[in-house]
Amino acid sequence: MKITTNLQWMEADFIEASKFFQNTEELDVTHSHCEDGTVMFDSVCIADKRYEYSKDIGETDDLEKKRYVKRYAKLSLYKSLSDYLGQRLVWGALTGIRPVKYAYSIGENWREKMADEMMVDESKLDIVGRIIEEQKGIYELKENNCDFFVSIPFCPSRCMYCSFLSNEIGKEKHLDGYIDALVKEIESAKPLIKNLRSVYVGGGTPVSLPLPMLERVLKAIGRVDCEYTVEAGRPDVIERETLELLKKYGVTRICINPQTFNDKTLKVIGRRHTAEDIYKKYELAKEFGFIVNMDLIAGLTGESFEDFKFSVDKAIELSPDNITVHTLSLKRGSKLKETTDRLAEGEIAKMIDYSVYRLINSGFNPYYMYRQKYMAGNLENTGYTKKGKACYYNVDVMEEISDNLACGANAVTKKLIVSENRIERYGAPKDIKTYIDKIDKIIEEKNKFFLDNSL
Ligand SMILES: C[S@@+](CC[C@H](N)C(=O)[O-])C[C@H]1O[C@@H](n2cnc3c(N)ncnc32)[C@H](O)[C@@H]1O
Ligand code: SF4
Repeated sequence: MKITTNLQWMEADFIEASKFFQNTEELDVTHSHCEDGTVMFDSVCIADKRYEYSKDIGETDDLEKKRYVKRYAKLSLYKSLSDYLGQRLVWGALTGIRPVKYAYSIGENWREKMADEMMVDESKLDIVGRIIEEQKGIYELKENNCDFFVSIPFCPSRCMYCSFLSNEIGKEKHLDGYIDALVKEIESAKPLIKNLRSVYVGGGTPVSLPLPMLERVLKAIGRVDCEYTVEAGRPDVIERETLELLKKYGVTRICINPQTFNDKTLKVIGRRHTAEDIYKKYELAKEFGFIVNMDLIAGLTGESFEDFKFSVDKAIELSPDNITVHTLSLKRGSKLKETTDRLAEGEIAKMIDYSVYRLINSGFNPYYMYRQKYMAGNLENTGYTKKGKACYYNVDVMEEISDNLACGANAVTKKLIVSENRIERYGAPKDIKTYIDKIDKIIEEKNKFFLDNSL
């Protein structure tokens, strides 16, 4: 499809809003936008058909006006393509990665507005509604609320589909230097925190670190009086001693991630563990009383609906506190992108629909959701929880309602300026050696950034 518009700054959004329509290769689309006072006009031409839209947005400031221009331009393109092609997308014209944050931002009538103005399907609005309900008592937008993130970007081996920053731990030359720098950064960050909501040690696979190194990190974080997650992740590196160490330092929640319960797929995606390992490590974790999350992915190489259904049913049978269902996202950086084609999108939509239906009917409620670019079938990732076991960290991060003080390579610190409805970010370098070499400068810059933006 070729799209021409007089709003050149909207081109990327237009591509995003239109890429999930089918059979569009030959289409020539022209969009034009103009304004008369507070009324905005958008017209879209597709082949010989012309669509006209207008909207009076009332008096607004510049920032708000830009948001409206963007919203209605995307909507005009979506409506025209939908009519011309006779196709509907479940998320309609909504392209952002945070549908629930969007719902909160438009206020009480979010449901009607998302249905009428963004053409979002009722099935998705139902999930958004359930999430808002589940977040009651957790959702708190308050200056100086803070979550603490520690990045351990190392794994026992690289899984084929993964596009996160992760380095094979066996090949890492700078592991000692990384832990020295990280401990220094953690210690200098702690005094900046006023109201700690949660701690999250993620990756990568933090428990792939040799235990004395993991202990140095946990010691630096110290005792906390709130939710404390360590993304244990891969069952092949979870041992009794690992869990004992986590317990000793007050960790309350861990992730043991199957991704799938099919051994054939686990082999193909390079996970180096079996379904049997998942059962064993989960039983072990239960002895310690951790809250446990399990991640699953819909759309993994070679998996049919029946394969995915088997994994969802197995996870429900094991009954962890949280289950997170991801839709495969083929980003640059994943080996899988080069070696596989996407499954038929309808098949993945069927998988996601099944997971929603089965999980909700088994006592798991959706409590956070996000979408990603390059996501198969324009779908979403959804975290489910048993009553009262929702993870504060995930809610805070997805709804962007709390500061995120982040340590380690590639970690992004976020500071909320609630009164001005804006977020400032500070990102650390991705490269391990650069991170180590620049640690003093990073600490200085980041701490200044955090304090300068604090009340
Ligand atoms: C940062 S990863 C760390 C998890 C941990 N290292 C493990 O592998 O168990 C968090 C989760 O993101 C999900 N994930 C990673 N790459 C993905 C992709 N390309 N598409 C969808 N989900 C993905 C996986 O479910 C994974 O468990
Ligand atoms: S999925 Fe987890 S273990 Fe696999 S490469 Fe990504 S972060 Fe590492």
